[in-house]
Amino acid sequence: MNPMTSYFTLSNGVNIPMVGLGTWQIPNDQVFDVVMNAFEVGYTHIDSAQGYQNEEGVGRAIKASSLPRESIFVTTKLPSHIKGYQETLDSFEQSMKDLQLEVLDLYLIHAPWPWSNIGQDCTQGNIESFKAMIDLYKQGRIRSIGVSNFSVKDLKAIMDATGFAPHVNQIRFYVGDTQDEIVSFCQANNILVEAYSPLATGRILNHPELLQMAEQKGVTIAQLCIKYCLQKNTLPLPKTTKKERMIENASLDFTLSEEEMKKLDRIK
Ligand SMILES: NC(=O)c1ccc[n+]([C@@H]2O[C@H](COP(=O)([O-])OP(=O)(O)OC[C@H]3O[C@@H](n4cnc5c(N)ncnc54)[C@H](OP(=O)(O)O)[C@@H]3O)[C@@H](O)[C@H]2O)c1
Repeated sequence: MNPMTSYFTLSNGVNIPMVGLGTWQIPNDQVFDVVMNAFEVGYTHIDSAQGYQNEEGVGRAIKASSLPRESIFVTTKLPSHIKGYQETLDSFEQSMKDLQLEVLDLYLIHAPWPWSNIGQDCTQGNIESFKAMIDLYKQGRIRSIGVSNFSVKDLKAIMDATGFAPHVNQIRFYVGDTQDEIVSFCQANNILVEAYSPLATGRILNHPELLQMAEQKGVTIAQLCIKYCLQKNTLPLPKTTKKERMIENASLDFTLSEEEMKKLDRIK
């Protein structure tokens, strides 16, 4: 399995490359080079967000690349504090302008609440935003739509109100933090789980037990963690600014046994 040329298929039949490049914390003046390097080593799936303030650089890289537009999968996100129908349409147009795109591959509500007020009940606002996204999807401006950081309750609220299941829920997911209830609900409802922070934003890369396991298998901790996400049927979005790590993070030609997966499940 080559993660560069393999896909998950969303519930609407759209194919999404199995490993995406995360771009959180990559400033706009650096992201162009990072994305160009990623394209060069075979990545075709880029995860951005208006909140990362790097859509402009991502867009320039897509334009500058020799890859055909249809072979690139681009995700961006509605900022977490923007809720409401018209507000969503306006914010979407701003993202499309910055990305210089006609059609977006995946658009996500970044979070069910503003980052400045985690846990705030924005159910009605999320429903209105999701309705706007459904309309953009039906108009062909977006190929797939979804959410991020949504709990089961948050998911049910928008699904019940619109009768439309998001194609994706992008959540925190890594060895030791797998949010099982959300993953089970999503997988039972054909909502692809994207694993963000698959390396715990770098925090698990010195974990002694993982190091031992990785050494035994002749892989790196990063590879072990990314493969774990894939074998859990989640789509990992590792972020790196370094070309050699991009290659490493997509070199996943090994299998974790059932026993190894269980061992990883127990890691805290
Ligand atoms: N929807 C959301 O709310 C949300 C939240 C968080 C993240 N995300 C998405 O998920 C992506 C990934 O999550 P993340 O940025 O938290 O971090 P991550 O991918 O879990 O880890 C990135 C960190 O690991 C380092 N790293 C990457 N590959 C490595 C390797 N092979 N060996 C050693 N170190 C390595 C990176 O450093 P270098 O860059 O120096 O290589 C960076 O410090 C984000 O960029 C974003 O696209 C979404």
